[in-house]
Amino acid sequence: MSRILITSALPYINGIKHLGTLAGSMLPADVYARFQRGRGRETLYICATDEHGTPTELAAAEAGLDPATFCANAHAVQADLGARFGLSWDHFGRSSSPQNHLQTQMFARQLWEGGFLEERVTQQVYSRADRRFLPDRYVIGTCPHCGYESARGDQCENCTRVLDPADLLHPRSAVSGSTDIEIRDSKHLFLRQSLFSDRLREGIEARKGRWPLLVTSIALKWLDEGLQDRGITRDLDWGVPVNAADWGPNPEGRTPDVEGLAGKVFYVWFDAPIEYISATAEWADARAGGKAADADWERWWRQPVADDVTYVQFMGKDNVPFHTVGFPCTLMGVNEGANAPWKLVDELKGFNWLDYYGGRFSTSQNRGVFMDQALELLPPDYWRWWIVANAPETSDATFVWEQFQAQVNADLADVLGNFVNRILKFTETRFEGVVPAGGVDGPLELKLRADVQAKLVELTGFMEAREFRKSSAALRQLWVLGNQYLTEAAPWTALKTDPERAGVAVRTGLNLVALFARVAEPFIPFTAKVIGESVGVGVGPGLWPDPDRALELLTPGQTVKAPEVLFRKIEDTQVAEWRERFGGPEVIPA
Ligand code: MF3
Ligand code: ZN
Repeated sequence: MSRILITSALPYINGIKHLGTLAGSMLPADVYARFQRGRGRETLYICATDEHGTPTELAAAEAGLDPATFCANAHAVQADLGARFGLSWDHFGRSSSPQNHLQTQMFARQLWEGGFLEERVTQQVYSRADRRFLPDRYVIGTCPHCGYESARGDQCENCTRVLDPADLLHPRSAVSGSTDIEIRDSKHLFLRQSLFSDRLREGIEARKGRWPLLVTSIALKWLDEGLQDRGITRDLDWGVPVNAADWGPNPEGRTPDVEGLAGKVFYVWFDAPIEYISATAEWADARAGGKAADADWERWWRQPVADDVTYVQFMGKDNVPFHTVGFPCTLMGVNEGANAPWKLVDELKGFNWLDYYGGRFSTSQNRGVFMDQALELLPPDYWRWWIVANAPETSDATFVWEQFQAQVNADLADVLGNFVNRILKFTETRFEGVVPAGGVDGPLELKLRADVQAKLVELTGFMEAREFRKSSAALRQLWVLGNQYLTEAAPWTALKTDPERAGVAVRTGLNLVALFARVAEPFIPFTAKVIGESVGVGVGPGLWPDPDRALELLTPGQTVKAPEVLFRKIEDTQVAEWRERFGGPEVIPA
């Protein structure tokens, strides 16, 4: 039985995440991790905050904190929100950890010594007023192609042309607005990605039809445009220092220019994916209460020991290039000549956008619903259910309050909640809260068993395939089967004429409750636990039901107890209030 390694794209440290971020990586990864644990597979779900880069430096400065303190605080906030949303990370690490410093530096050294890094002198914009180098996107000026006056140095938002800051007319600093800027020479390291172009293309071609079309087409588009070598260092303070002093010679016998590279850090997109690996070391160290033996965590990552690991990555579509091209280049370079190569991704699940009223959720413009606000309004399972059921898989999806209300009320309150409540209340009042014994299955039960078995096989297949919309639909159909059965079997009527028949129906209904708790666990873990407790069964690891024995979960004679209301319906007045607070379509720029 294979082990499952899961990573979701690392959220930027900066700011609280909105529902779009949750939908595109962390939540589906969690649902999948819970499912795989339910199947009894050894599963490791790793995530972390992505902490380096200029935006962090600027956000820290704005908060009046040094970057390290700013990140420590923000990490704690994100970890807490994730836990409250039920994100079952085995470890939620930090890309600024000592482990990641070491791992990043070690990989860079191996890349240098393997001949995959090159030194180049580049021209960087230096702002005298800000006393710092400015990354391309923090230089603003007039686009030489279309005349747009607020073009960023990396790309013109207006005509979408890719730019170099030196192309801009009337350049100025986006940090201070100062025009007192100059171009300075600066030495940097470049990863020779072009060496891997053919191998990457072969790899992607081989995944066509298995990975989502979205993912393979984005990756191939990048390769078609021609892979450029990529600068992996920056003139910044906050990051993993380059520290090339202990690097050996490259295959041409040259050692790095230690002085020329002094004071530089690695580019955030170089060290962030390496944190997937380093966070696994953090996880092992934390478990061991100190420095863990390498084998404790490297067995997830290094072949041949990790040959039985299936590594699954989750991310939004904007992250696909870095995960299909950038990070694989790092690992392929490191792996060249290594006797225990690092695992590359096996399955990559990419998502489109979850929008807010058809426009983008926006952190910078504070548009949409953010994780902390969401939890103020409603319990996490309401959000989890809606987001997974509407996962932006084959196209973008959009959040609209009225549709959210309608779907949550229908699926959770009317279908699932009502079923559980109906059968348990009836058992309490008419069967003394005990699972009835005796009687035999009739045609209704036999049909139900066959239907449930088929639906459960279907649901399990969709979950294995990481088809989240289809999985939610199959799960809902299971709940509907339960409702239909109960309506047809009508134990409340049968009780008057044939109590044994009523007993069979009640027992069957209660077994459905137990089944629903177990299959709902990956989606709505908090409520699933409560439902499970009401009929005395656990949910979670190892407890995903076997389709052949799906309705034999309870023992006749055991007691059950109706839970408190599982899902309160969302009222029109609440929707009106939230529409007012967060804004509707009018907040989306035309
Ligand atoms: N922080 C990035 C984002 O939110 C994702 C980083 S994923 C990793 O878009 F590969 F760098 F880890
Ligand atoms: Zn332009």
